Amino acid sequence: MRVTVIGTGYVGLVCGVGLADFGLNVTCVDCNQQRISALQRGEMPIYEIGLEEILKRCVKNHRLKFSTDLKTAIQQAAVIIVAVGTPEGANGKPDLSQIETVAQSLASSIQEYKVIVVKSTVPLGTTRRLNDLIKKQQKRKVKFDIVYNPEFLREGTAIEDFMRPNRVVIGSDSKEATRVVKEIYRPLYIIETPFIVTTPEAAEMIKYASNTFLATKITFINEVANLCEKIGADVHHVAYALGLDKRIGSMFLHPGPGFGGSCFPKDVRALVEAGKELNSPQRLAEIVLQINQAQSEIVVAKIDRALQGLDQKRIGVLGLSFKPNTDDVRESPSLAICKKLVENHAIIQAYDPVAVPNSRKVLSGEGVIFCENAYDAVTKVDGLVIATEWNEFRNIDLIKVKSLMKNPVVIDTRNIFEPQKMKKIGFQYFGQGR
Ligand SMILES: NC(=O)c1ccc[n+]([C@@H]2O[C@H](COP(=O)([O-])OP(=O)(O)OC[C@H]3O[C@@H](n4cnc5c(N)ncnc54)[C@H](O)[C@@H]3O)[C@@H](O)[C@H]2O)c1
Repeated sequence: MRVTVIGTGYVGLVCGVGLADFGLNVTCVDCNQQRISALQRGEMPIYEIGLEEILKRCVKNHRLKFSTDLKTAIQQAAVIIVAVGTPEGANGKPDLSQIETVAQSLASSIQEYKVIVVKSTVPLGTTRRLNDLIKKQQKRKVKFDIVYNPEFLREGTAIEDFMRPNRVVIGSDSKEATRVVKEIYRPLYIIETPFIVTTPEAAEMIKYASNTFLATKITFINEVANLCEKIGADVHHVAYALGLDKRIGSMFLHPGPGFGGSCFPKDVRALVEAGKELNSPQRLAEIVLQINQAQSEIVVAKIDRALQGLDQKRIGVLGLSFKPNTDDVRESPSLAICKKLVENHAIIQAYDPVAVPNSRKVLSGEGVIFCENAYDAVTKVDGLVIATEWNEFRNIDLIKVKSLMKNPVVIDTRNIFEPQKMKKIGFQYFGQGR
């Protein structure tokens, strides 16, 4: 089967590479010529563990190619997967302009029956609206079916998540389209992946409800951690005991500087906006957003207290991406903290294993010095902030770090170090909720 994937970002590229690895013939299309040229040269536009190796293997086996020619790619494929961006718009609602442009191209290019699979995260009701939009714009009425198939991959483990998902959700009104989508995921039957076939509306809701629930869990443990600090309890003991209750589960109970990334903040906001529009307020989601925003301020206040003021303080920041193993800095809590520290006249020495190029685009200007490695970032600083939990930082030579710092003060927003060990080395150590 020939499949075209539109959009070669974190989702589209992983999906295209994953399906090619499943044995399908895949064309990945993007309107960004630079990105496609780089991919054609074998250069990766994003950092994702394992992606390059599989991509190169599939290209070599002629199962994967890259193009900017959307019309041809649409016409040659039986299935068209839409994975373009739906970033947050000015009003808190997702900006659907990328997906609407794709809908126009689909309307003008389809010449025979196609299955259109929307993978982008879209507001409730969008799949049906896209169906109507394409039909309205079609000059020749050619049949197609549209399916909503949300993506649940996590950046940093995207390949593994795509190849071994917890579930596949198919939101469809068409038996034929459902059959075709099941067919493209056939290798997942062997590993007994559950398939949920439902309506497009329920599938859209599943995606928003999943992300909002996970964001709520993170927010809950952050609030518990803040309270633990006041009473001298270790939040990890609390989280461990909580997680052993099967009704609660242990995942996403790790305190930190708040959730970020390209999905959670925008998806929770989208659910809140949908609730307002449909007169069914999503009050829990609303408060989750407020608490999360305040969390980075709580962290900055903690740094301020630990360093006895921020003015002209030199601060090392380790980790810039919103989480480890990705170069994605969209809504990264680390960048939010860096911005606030600079606003308070601190000087930042920042390092990240892969996210410096993307961070430069956001944190340009005065106040931030990007460093070549972690040791340069801690040299002569008044304090060190651990902002993203890269493994590289867990294994850092702490004796060397202490000798390089002006003042051995560590604010560990991800709890990657043991408080007792840090104190023994001679650090003044501040964790989250312990
Ligand atoms: N990033 C994640 O972890 C993740 C996980 C699950 C779901 N999602 C959702 O998946 C969607 C894509 O996310 P992403 O992070 O991959 O986005 P992205 O911004 O990284 O990539 C989008 C790509 O689409 C391309 N594009 C835009 N308009 C186009 C057009 N008209 N024709 C061809 N290409 C076009 C862009 O050039 C870009 O390369 C979003 O809706 C997002 O919410 C993302």
